[in-house]
Amino acid sequence: MSSDLDGRVALVTGGGKGIGAAIARDLAAAGARVAVNYARGADTAAAVVGEIAAAGGQAKAFQADVSREEDVVRLFSEVREVFGPVDTLVNNAGVWRFETLEDLTVEEYRRHYDVNVLGYLLASREFAKQEEADGGAIVNLTSVGIHWPAPTTVLYTGTKWAIVGMTQVLALELAPRGIRVNAIAAGLVDTEGTRASGFMGSPASEAYAQTIPLGRVGQVEDIAPVATFLASDDARFITGDTLSPTGGLI
Ligand SMILES: NC(=O)c1ccc[n+]([C@@H]2O[C@H](COP(=O)([O-])OP(=O)(O)OC[C@H]3O[C@@H](n4cnc5c(N)ncnc54)[C@H](OP(=O)(O)O)[C@@H]3O)[C@@H](O)[C@H]2O)c1
Repeated sequence: MSSDLDGRVALVTGGGKGIGAAIARDLAAAGARVAVNYARGADTAAAVVGEIAAAGGQAKAFQADVSREEDVVRLFSEVREVFGPVDTLVNNAGVWRFETLEDLTVEEYRRHYDVNVLGYLLASREFAKQEEADGGAIVNLTSVGIHWPAPTTVLYTGTKWAIVGMTQVLALELAPRGIRVNAIAAGLVDTEGTRASGFMGSPASEAYAQTIPLGRVGQVEDIAPVATFLASDDARFITGDTLSPTGGLI
């Protein structure tokens, strides 16, 4: 097996932290030049770029809020100026807040769907609008929640199901151009986000870990190679699919 991405240009949304940062590092290690997108975390994105450079790779950080159309259009234009057209898009930037139906607000609904759904759509649209994208790959991060929905996650899980549907539809729509579209339904992973939420490391997360057949929660390095594989020519006959690195929760 090879995952040689020499000559490829990858854009990872939300690439400055967590799973996105690991994917950025892994794509760069496979030879891609990597655009590391961030919204507010300039420092963490710069650190990821520094790590990639120290390992001999090429990367640059680009600010854009993926839920804002003008930002996403500008992002693709800026990446093109530095690296050329993007041939690998990893839609990873995501938000979540878990609360009961009674506490649901329209504001939180819009925040979830604006980042997790509209953000993916806008980036995919700008990707597809590039003539040179033919033969490229889109990888969308969804969640184990599609296999194991949990109470209080109605907003988050709804967005993650939407991503599965978008993946299937866009795979068909873009197949004639040789653009493959796949998703990764990641299991619970130890990241800045899951730590900041207070879940990772809590008794609840330890109890949850015991339900995982492989006996532990995921690390970012468990997910990143799956994205690199889906981006690579090794996955040339896979499109519209969702791979599930969850430790067995499928
Ligand atoms: N961790 C898990 O257990 C898990 C499980 C299944 C699926 N996932 C999915 O995997 C993806 C990454 O999760 P994670 O745990 O690594 O997240 P994380 O540590 O919370 O990091 C979130 C990333 O998303 C970026 N982001 C948020 N809003 C953005 C926006 N409007 N525009 C651009 N970037 C934005 C953040 O950038 P800034 O720092 O610049 O704000 C940050 O880089 C998400 O789609 C998540 O749903 C995670």
